[in-house]
Order: sequence, then C-alpha cells, then structure tokens
Amino acid sequence: MIILGTTSDISQAFIEKVLIEQKNKYPKIYLVTSNEGETGRLAKHLKVKYNQDSEIILFDLLKDTDYSVFDSIDSDLLFCAVGFLGKNSEDGLYDLANTQKITKINYSNLLPLMNYFAEKFEAKKTGTIIGLASVAGMRGRQSNFVYGSAKAGFLVYLDGLRNYLYHKGVHVITVVPGFMDTKMTAGMPLPKPLTASPQQAAAAIYKAWKKKKNKVFVKGIWKCIMTIIVHVPEFIFKKMKM
Ligand SMILES: NC(=O)c1ccc[n+]([C@@H]2O[C@H](COP(=O)([O-])OP(=O)(O)OC[C@H]3O[C@@H](n4cnc5c(N)ncnc54)[C@H](OP(=O)(O)O)[C@@H]3O)[C@@H](O)[C@H]2O)c1
Repeated sequence: MIILGTTSDISQAFIEKVLIEQKNKYPKIYLVTSNEGETGRLAKHLKVKYNQDSEIILFDLLKDTDYSVFDSIDSDLLFCAVGFLGKNSEDGLYDLANTQKITKINYSNLLPLMNYFAEKFEAKKTGTIIGLASVAGMRGRQSNFVYGSAKAGFLVYLDGLRNYLYHKGVHVITVVPGFMDTKMTAGMPLPKPLTASPQQAAAAIYKAWKKKKNKVFVKGIWKCIMTIIVHVPEFIFKKMKM
C-alpha cells in the first residue's frame, strides 16, 4: 500500500481501517510524506500496534521532482490524501505565493506523481488508485475558488484516469469529502451534521474500495447538497455569498 499525504488524519484512519479489516498484512506500507517527524511517529505506532512494517519516503511536492525514489515500490493500492487549503478570500486569495502553493500541491505538481504511479499500475494490469478530491471542486465559490479550481482539476483528472485505466484492469476511486474534522479545518466553525470524522471517511472509503465504487461522498447528504448547488442558475448563484 502506498500513501501520499501520510500525515492526513484521513490517511491514518484509512491505514488503520485496512490493518484491522484485512487478514493478509501488507509486507510493507510506503509512507510518502513531506513531514518526516510526524510520519516517523506514525510508522512506530503501526509497528507497535499492528506489527506492520513501513518505509518512509520523503517527498515534498513543492521541491522534489526525482521520482526515482519510488522505483523499487511494488504495490496494488495507492491512496492519495494530498491537499492544501491555503488562505481564503478574506485573508489573501489574491496572494501570489498562496495561489502558487495551492495550485502546485493540489494539482500541477501532484499530477506528475499520480501519473508516475498510474503507469506502474497500468504495467501490472491490476490494483486500485484512490484519490481525495473535494466538494469544493464541484462548483466555484467566492470563499475558496483557487483551492476549489485546483480540486476541480484533480477531480476531472481522476474521472479521466478511471476511464483510461478501466481498460487496463486498474480501478480508480474518487473520494469527494464535504466538511471533514481534520487538522486542515482545525478551528473552523463547521456544522456538525455535515461534518465527518476521519474514521467515518476511512470506513466509507474502505467500503467503496471493496465494492469497486467509482465515486464516494463521505457523507451521503453532500451528494444531495451538491446536486442542488451545481444546478442553481448562474445568474442567481453569482449573487449568493458562499
Ligand atoms: N478537511 C476537509 O474538510 C476536507 C474537505 C474536502 C476535501 N479534503 C481533502 O482531503 C484530503 C486530506 O485532507 P485533510 O483534511 O486530512 O488535510 P491535511 O491534514 O492538511 O492533509 C493534507 C496532506 O497533504 C500533504 N501535503 C501538504 N503539503 C504537501 C507537500 N508540499 N508535499 C507533499 N505532501 C503535502 C500532507 O502530507 P504530509 O504532511 O505527509 O507531507 C498532508 O497530510 C486533502 O486532499 C483535502 O484537500 C479535506
């Protein structure tokens, strides 16, 4: 199993869900991260609690481009929880460094890495690629249109990749979380009924993987909400404050 975005609470919950549910242990979990310290703690936790071996591979999407560090990896499951919310409209959506960081981490520097692994999976003609997009990528809103547009690009990328790899024996799952109770949203006043825990996300993603679903909304209610939001006529939508 390969994890991109290892320190995400959702990644950690998903790893634990897999280790609890699966009888056959992975020989090794590849933890790809830009945060060595926190991932080291996770690796120790996995060893102590589940006797699970892992290998940490340092890769910062803002700096690193040498994909040869992944050449020896052989796996049939890729889980990508990479994401960066950045600043929103009130505190600097026009900030150039913020704009570049959001687009690079969520989209432009992530896609080459995804494609690197997609090619490996295609060569093996088997496996599953799971990517975390966002409801933010389903319609541009004033509150996060840079992040939302990068997530929209990632979401469409996963759609196309699924279509392409279907014919090669590889399955691609798009996860579309709504509000999530994670480090990314710490301190934000999120409405409880619309907010999912990392464990809820892990359970929904695990089920989608086992049932070979194409897309999964972590909380079903978000599917209804987004169906409405994407259908609001633009002449009304542009006047709304969302
Ligand atoms: N939280 C929400 O409400 C919410 C809603 C919808 C969608 N999502 C999406 O769900 C996914 C997980 O989000 P989360 O809430 O768990 O947020 P998070 O804790 O901030 O996780 C994002 C992950 O992105 C990785 N990352 C960030 N900058 C990186 C860089 N320069 N190079 C490599 N990796 C980098 C980090 O991994 P390392 O630290 O291991 O490098 C981090 O674990 C993201 O794709 C996010 O966009 C979240």
